[in-house]
Amino acid sequence: MRVLVIGGGGREHALVHKLSESSQVDDIWCFPGNAGTGQIAKIPNLVSAKCDVLADFALAEDIDLTIVGPENYLAAGIVDLFHSHGLTIFGPTQKAAQIESSKVFAKELMKTHNIPTAAYGVFSDYDSAKAYIEAMGVPIVIKADGLAAGKGVIVAEDTETALAAAQATLSGKQVGEAGRQIVIEEFLSGQEVSILALCDGTTCIPLVPSQDHKTIGEGDQGPNTGGMGAYSPVPVVDKALEKTVYDTILIPTLAALRQEGIEYTGVLYAGLMLTESGPKVIEFNCRFGDPETQVILPRLKTDLVDLLLAASQGRLADCQPLDWDPRACVCVIAASEGYPGAYTSGFTIKGLEAVAGLSDVYTYHAGTAWRDGKMVTAGGRVLGVSALGDDIRQARERAYEALGKLDFDGMYYRSDIGWRALE
Ligand SMILES: Nc1ncnc2c1ncn2[C@@H]1O[C@H](COP(=O)(O)OP(=O)(O)O)[C@@H](O)[C@H]1O
Ligand SMILES: [Mg+2]
Repeated sequence: MRVLVIGGGGREHALVHKLSESSQVDDIWCFPGNAGTGQIAKIPNLVSAKCDVLADFALAEDIDLTIVGPENYLAAGIVDLFHSHGLTIFGPTQKAAQIESSKVFAKELMKTHNIPTAAYGVFSDYDSAKAYIEAMGVPIVIKADGLAAGKGVIVAEDTETALAAAQATLSGKQVGEAGRQIVIEEFLSGQEVSILALCDGTTCIPLVPSQDHKTIGEGDQGPNTGGMGAYSPVPVVDKALEKTVYDTILIPTLAALRQEGIEYTGVLYAGLMLTESGPKVIEFNCRFGDPETQVILPRLKTDLVDLLLAASQGRLADCQPLDWDPRACVCVIAASEGYPGAYTSGFTIKGLEAVAGLSDVYTYHAGTAWRDGKMVTAGGRVLGVSALGDDIRQARERAYEALGKLDFDGMYYRSDIGWRALE
């Protein structure tokens, strides 16, 4: 079988690696990929990164299954385009991807179908936003409607910050067009967890729970990043809570979408707040999480190709229950100094061979490239080290031990990944 993975981060490296372990896979491509995916997958030489260029490539190369990592391709309708060519692709259609690409769409779906989420209002003019903020009080959360690469949400502790956020977002200063409409929502407190599920329109199979660490600083302080680490399982999520999420969130969301005429296929990623009155949806994503994927896939023992094909072809109900490694997995991301602000690239990465020799340790590349025969840094998040261990504590020790063998100029990582689980 011939497989194409679209994307170039740690998530895609983890996907490519897992897919390459399947006996069904003969050839694998990853576009645009990175230095890590380039060691196991071919990198197509394409004139551009546009959807139609990728579809032409898939047709020309007889690709049997395409998997899309990043949300922007899904929001742009790559799945619809591939379907129109009769190609098999794992991911939601453009309409279905609105669950992530429009927070207004997601909130209205949840409200109409009684799916637990924060109370909210939708605004496109500042005066009504201001009146709502003043009526609701603080803390309060201001969110741009559209895709904003993690820069569209402001959690405001005081009224001044909330008003400034509403103003900056609506005016286009914060995130441009994505902020033309905003959601203003009730602040929820609790622990955040991610539950990702494979969906085929009707059936949904949840993957193991995970928790990521969004901020750059230790103790979850400082500005948000693409994610500085993750772990799985999450001790606060027991079987009963998993069942509650399945019964009150995942299944009702798929049913709600079907009622709206949308067959949701792909990953439905529920970002949840575990509040005192039960789990509530903070947001949905329409694809695998990064870095959650880097702690979920090392634990998956079932053939990923079977699952993604079954999801793409509406056959998930026929799949056997998933087989998971009972061990824990911790992923720590190494970033370039300065990230998520400005940073410098091009530094040689040392120690990869030493880490490659460790068992149950996976180095997933994100911003890496080859230059003059050397592996160099080429992005904010450079790589992530995922390690399995008997429990979170051991997995974390093993991940940090491996990271200790790696080095590049300005390498930064948080030393407290998994702290909530260990408290
Ligand atoms: N209602 C809320 N209450 C408390 N914190 C929130 C709320 N909504 C969002 N957040 C915080 O902001 C982060 C980003 O919000 P999210 O809706 O996930 O947007 P995005 O991932 O698109 O930036 C969340 O991970 C969470 O930490
Ligand atoms: Mg989020």
